[in-house]
Amino acid sequence: MSAKILDGAALAKSIRADVAQRAGKLAAAGRAPGLAVILVGDDPGSAIYVRNKVKDCEEAGIRSTLDRLSASTEQSALLARIRELNDDDAIDGILVQLPLPPQIDPFTVIETISPAKDVDGFHVASAGALMTGQPGFRPCTPYGVMRLLGQAGAELRGAEAVVVGRSNIVGKPQALLLLQADATVTICHSRTRDLAAHTRRADILVAAVGRARMITGDMIKPGAIVIDVGMNRDENGKLCGDVDFDSASRVASWITPVPGGVGPMTRAMLLVNTIEAAERKQESHDA
Ligand code: GUN
Repeated sequence: MSAKILDGAALAKSIRADVAQRAGKLAAAGRAPGLAVILVGDDPGSAIYVRNKVKDCEEAGIRSTLDRLSASTEQSALLARIRELNDDDAIDGILVQLPLPPQIDPFTVIETISPAKDVDGFHVASAGALMTGQPGFRPCTPYGVMRLLGQAGAELRGAEAVVVGRSNIVGKPQALLLLQADATVTICHSRTRDLAAHTRRADILVAAVGRARMITGDMIKPGAIVIDVGMNRDENGKLCGDVDFDSASRVASWITPVPGGVGPMTRAMLLVNTIEAAERKQESHDA
């Protein structure tokens, strides 16, 4: 079998076009959507992510502001800036790029963001809404993965879904979203005793561990849909996922490439959350 490619770049493009259209409507009503991005410190990887987010906003007709704060910024100063943005009516979404320097507690920072502007979906209010099946912002990566599964025509009801990784940003919310779609969900992690025994049962396999090519073709059920959230550098410095693409694509029915799979979807879903935040605000103004 040779897997079909789940083209995240193409799907993200169509999602961005839809967001741009919705942004245009809001702008025409005098309520152009706005995203505030905060970067603390000078991690080069984070700087690239942030630059891309700002560029995506521009192209979709979403205004964005970027605060670049020094690595020595006090936590109190960052919290004060977030409170200002919480009160700023022109700002619909607030994103503080992670990781943060050691003097700043990320949990306190995330909890200071107004849940109505939590477009990353990291606030406990958003996590609680997801856990209880209430409306709220979903974290962008797992939200994008759900769209990719829809694109592949995956039948999730009753399917065996295995998520490898248990982070708050990807693994845990991913498992909850799959559960909400009526899949039978297993979460594997670094202490899982026999990882391959679990992954071989998966109709849907989501790899989010952060280890280059650790999921190999022999660990995949024939015909499975394989979603690779990983973004690693191999020993030659080449970008690769958590899945060994060559061996996995001989076994799977669908597979996401790295790059061009989950990455562009994560970026697109931030725009979706931001436009939804703006539309909700507009609706509550109009009500
Ligand atoms: N750092 C790596 N990924 C993310 C993300 O999705 N959101 C934020 N805020 N920081 C990140």
